[in-house]
Amino acid sequence: MEVIVRKDTKSAVRLTAQLMGDALRENPKMVFGLATGRTMEAVYAELARMCKEEALDFSLASSFNLDEYIGMAPENENSYRYYMNHHLFDHINIDKRNTNLPYGLAEDVEAEGERYEAAIEAAGGIDLQLLGIGCDGHIGFNEPLSSFSSRTRAKALTPETYAQNSPLFQRPEDMPLRAFTMGVGTVLDARRIVMLVTGAEKAAIVAKAIEGPLTSMVTGSAIQLHPNVVVILDEEAAANLTMRKYYDWVFMHEPEWESYRNL
Ligand code: GLP
Repeated sequence: MEVIVRKDTKSAVRLTAQLMGDALRENPKMVFGLATGRTMEAVYAELARMCKEEALDFSLASSFNLDEYIGMAPENENSYRYYMNHHLFDHINIDKRNTNLPYGLAEDVEAEGERYEAAIEAAGGIDLQLLGIGCDGHIGFNEPLSSFSSRTRAKALTPETYAQNSPLFQRPEDMPLRAFTMGVGTVLDARRIVMLVTGAEKAAIVAKAIEGPLTSMVTGSAIQLHPNVVVILDEEAAANLTMRKYYDWVFMHEPEWESYRNL
């Protein structure tokens, strides 16, 4: 795992988008794993800018989102499908037929999980998985105690997640209590993981995920098992890290990061 701390949210976001853009330039047929949440809105705005101003080409790319609320139609403004169209897909030249989310209205919940897993496999697997982290340590909607080998399935959300996400609904009481989510095992199958965490409210939980013990109580800690992970933080989110000096040292001296230092 590599941990990169940037001076502010803006440069953390730019670095994240830059890594995604560079990966896409290298492999135009990238299969992205995508995340939702407030943190990612700025990343998607930056990718949209790069598409428009720097001819970043998504025409051959495809994507799989981590999760979707159960019982929510794609047209619903609170669905993650709507979020993705609104923040990213409507602003880049990706073929929407190649963008995938679990279908919130699927009648057979178990079959929907299996369908999604099969679709990821048929696409050749996920090349780069973008992740945020929830206040209870979840990745996707893998709430505490989710198995590290879990696959896409329905998950009951915690009261913490309800408190964190329901203010985003016009009527907070409309937030579903369950969601489809890729499993922790699905996420770990991605060839590369880029996690972005910003803001003081995430400092304690992200320190647990990065430097704490592996535990399904903090499903974000599962990324420690993955051989190719970059975690990008702003100063506020990095406040509780103990190995900070080492992270800065690596970023300053490893040749891999040379072109990213001035972002
Ligand atoms: C939701 C998503 C997660 C995301 C989290 C963080 O719960 N399911 O994938 O990481 O929100 O959201 P925010 O960026 O708003 O803090």
